[in-house]
Amino acid sequence: MHTKMAINVSPPPGIPEHLAIGPLRITPPVVLAPMAGITDVAFRQLVCEFGGGLFIGEMISAELLAAGDPVTRSMVRFFPGEAIRSVQLYATQPQALRHAITILRNEFGVHHIDLNFGCPVPKITRKGGGAALPLHREQFPRLLEAAVSAAAGIPITIKIRMGLDAEFQYYLDIAQMAHTFGIHALTLHARTADQFYAGEARWDAIRRVVQAVPGLPIIGNGDVWTAEHALSMLQQTGCAGVGIGRAVLGRPFLFARFNALFSGRVLPPYPVLCEVAAIARRHLELMVQYYPEAVAVRRLRKHWKWYFQGFQDARQWMPQLLQAERATEVEDLLRKMNSREPYPLTEIWMPRGKRGKQPKVVLPESLRRRLATGRFDIDPITGSGG
Ligand SMILES: Cc1cc2nc3c(=O)[nH]c(=O)nc-3n(C[C@H](O)[C@H](O)[C@H](O)COP(=O)(O)O)c2cc1C
Repeated sequence: MHTKMAINVSPPPGIPEHLAIGPLRITPPVVLAPMAGITDVAFRQLVCEFGGGLFIGEMISAELLAAGDPVTRSMVRFFPGEAIRSVQLYATQPQALRHAITILRNEFGVHHIDLNFGCPVPKITRKGGGAALPLHREQFPRLLEAAVSAAAGIPITIKIRMGLDAEFQYYLDIAQMAHTFGIHALTLHARTADQFYAGEARWDAIRRVVQAVPGLPIIGNGDVWTAEHALSMLQQTGCAGVGIGRAVLGRPFLFARFNALFSGRVLPPYPVLCEVAAIARRHLELMVQYYPEAVAVRRLRKHWKWYFQGFQDARQWMPQLLQAERATEVEDLLRKMNSREPYPLTEIWMPRGKRGKQPKVVLPESLRRRLATGRFDIDPITGSGG
């Protein structure tokens, strides 16, 4: 059934062969979006085993890295031969950002740093970070300047949302400002912060920013669920690359389909249950290689739900799988999933990982007051508004 669905296309003319970020050339132009608690070293290695792309690590705090926090340092980890060592940083203070980037450059030999200016969760925005930072028209350019100067040639990208809410959208100004400050590419998750994951991502906003700032490579992000869909985003928006998050949860094999589609090869079929279980076993093997067994087994529990959602023949093993404490128990259960039940294709379009709205975006009092008084006209060249 799936083989019949496979298609053989050459990438249509006009679709970029690679995504250029400063000196980096990423083929195909597909980015594994940073996902906290997900895109750790083991998951990136697993995804990379299915083909090329850019695989961004979990978000880490620049302040904690600069302060020498051992847990944060332990999160900066790469697999042997990882071609592009890519990290996402979250920062609110230019000095700490500068320090963190220097550490990443000198001690960890990173090749790419993404800055998170899109996170909508209260823990981050309450301190003026994530999606709240672009509102801060003095601090934001200081952070861009600090990052680009400390990077000393390592490409810096930023990831943003469209704005705070429907009324307060900043993405066009921010893209212009990022370009002015020498940022190498910008990812737009085409939702506002208050939407969290509700509603459809606004691909028209991606097209608008591509047209508004032609010199800045734009990575479109939001609601891409299949390889064909990634191609549609490129065609519809003219973006330089596509960022993909939730679709890859439980589906690292999607990268084989992205790679095939963008190089004009026949797409590999979606795997059957026993093939998914084999991928899950490889995930387990990698996790145990990088983390203590108990940590690995615990962290993997959420992945099992994503791998096996919709497979009838997996249902009987799920309760045990979600309670197992030892890697050998997990391994045995995964081996029992030996059926050739086809991939549940109806699952493909179902949001996973995160969905829905959150109550409201929490801002620090000072920013809220400034928003209320409308003191946010900006001059995108100097960034000296407010
Ligand atoms: C579990 C999870 C964790 C995430 N963590 C981060 C993060 O640390 N940094 C970030 O910029 N975006 C994060 N995101 C957002 C994704 O990078 C992406 O922008 C979002 O999921 C929309 O893309 P998608 O529709 O392809 O999933 C996270 C998303 C999920 C589902």
